[in-house]
Amino acid sequence: MLYCKSSIMNPIVLESVQLSRALDGPNGRKSLLSDISFRLERGQVLVVLGPSGAGKSTLLRLLNRLDEPTGGQVLLDGRNYLEIDPRELRRRVGMVMQRAYLFPGTAAMNIGYGPAQHGMALTDAQIGELLEQVGMQGYADRNVATLSGGEAQRISIARALANGPEVLLLDEPTSALDDASKQGVERLLATIVRERHATCVWVTHDVAQAARVADLVLRVEAGAAVALGTPQELLHA
Ligand SMILES: Nc1ncnc2c1ncn2[C@@H]1O[C@H](COP(=O)(O)OP(=O)(O)O)[C@@H](O)[C@H]1O
Ligand SMILES: [Mg+2]
Repeated sequence: MLYCKSSIMNPIVLESVQLSRALDGPNGRKSLLSDISFRLERGQVLVVLGPSGAGKSTLLRLLNRLDEPTGGQVLLDGRNYLEIDPRELRRRVGMVMQRAYLFPGTAAMNIGYGPAQHGMALTDAQIGELLEQVGMQGYADRNVATLSGGEAQRISIARALANGPEVLLLDEPTSALDDASKQGVERLLATIVRERHATCVWVTHDVAQAARVADLVLRVEAGAAVALGTPQELLHA
């Protein structure tokens, strides 16, 4: 018997429906993002491509409610995310940014912070496992101020994974790194997505990276979606 990618086996985890954000400014209402729609099945990677200022970070911030939509909606596992407690939402929808905003302290303290907020202290063994997953075994007691950019980014990835997220939002996660650590961190993220079947929205301006990691590509320009399709359709035209 053949198994195919059916919607029953791969339910829609994240859906954005005409998601929009506009702000009132001195010169009237300004649209930052308008009518962004997509559906992602479990394990799919949506790459968001677009020039600087297009609204890519705004989109990610809307997807975990760091910013509030002014129109449209987001469904997480079929449920309107406004009905989900924001703290639970941010546990289920993890974010990794361009620069690792680690707080002063050890790698272990940074990784354990999220679960501790939810009353679940991680054991040393669990922290060791997370460190191993990001290629940082033995770094539990390292002061994060002494880490390189690539190492710090790995710790911020472990910190996101510590919450057991269903969705990962990656905001240009490799663009602040030097070439050597860039490749390593990209490979690490691709492995994590594959092994955990994580559903992922990955912002990049690197078209070659998009081609390597995307299942779907969304092109955004001036706050609007200009194309949504497969990498074959959109990256080799
Ligand atoms: N809080 C805000 N107030 C006003 N304008 C904002 C705010 N946040 C972002 N913007 C504007 O929204 C646009 C999109 O920004 P952003 O999402 O950061 O773009 P990208 O990540 O694609 O470079 C930019 O023009 C930016 O100046
Ligand atoms: Mg950005």
